[in-house]
Amino acid sequence: MKRIAYFQFCPVLADPTANRAIVAGTLEGVEADLIVLPELAFTGYSMTDRKTASALAEDPANSPSLELLTGLCRSGDYHIVAGFTERAGDKLYNSAVLVGPGGLVGMYRKIHLFGFESELFDPGPEPPAVYDIGGLNVGMMVCFDWFFPETARLLALSGTDVIAHPSNLVLDWCQKSMVTRCLENNLFAVTANRYGSEARGGKELTFTGGSQITAPRGKILVSAGSAADALEIIEIDPDTARDKNVTAVNHLLDDRKPKLYKGLM
Ligand code: ACM
Repeated sequence: MKRIAYFQFCPVLADPTANRAIVAGTLEGVEADLIVLPELAFTGYSMTDRKTASALAEDPANSPSLELLTGLCRSGDYHIVAGFTERAGDKLYNSAVLVGPGGLVGMYRKIHLFGFESELFDPGPEPPAVYDIGGLNVGMMVCFDWFFPETARLLALSGTDVIAHPSNLVLDWCQKSMVTRCLENNLFAVTANRYGSEARGGKELTFTGGSQITAPRGKILVSAGSAADALEIIEIDPDTARDKNVTAVNHLLDDRKPKLYKGLM
């Protein structure tokens, strides 16, 4: 059995020090195997322009946020997936980092940028990968990737048990959609959303909270309210994500007909 969790909070825009304090204050002493934090957890979302985003972004090789996460993972013997504003040379990515007691384990750079994100970030150039963190296979996608079923399907085909899904959701439909993503791929997903509002260019964005852990067969195991901090930890059996039989004669991956799907390319 494994304990998986989300920590929903309201990051302070452009204040990584304050956001690191919120994360440290909550995760210290938590007992879990995997804890997922929201998208862009240390910078907030509505950065004015690429220059501002670049000034706030961190290089994983020299990152106070990764140092904090590593220290937390070491003292709690758990792993964290966190949304991360990443600088890589002259590129900027809306990334998710997987961190454990030994430091950075893996990374995913958001492929499907949402709205003004393309003014700030470069789209991720690689498909998502899967990481074994001691008997639990973790894959990552970031927020709007939920709208593209290919993302979760790629992760299922690579053997993911749990999709860690840092989010800053502003549309209403993701939580409902994750029921289908988990049903059609028979896996778990931890959607860690944020709440609160931010202003950019005279417009206000309100983030919807409602973080959710969804199980194979599309069952919602737990969900958070729309406007408050929430740390929820539940126990799961990863084996339930590994049996891809839908009926005695149907297997959700083996029954696919990729030769007939060429129209998707
Ligand atoms: C989103 O992808 N942050 C909506």
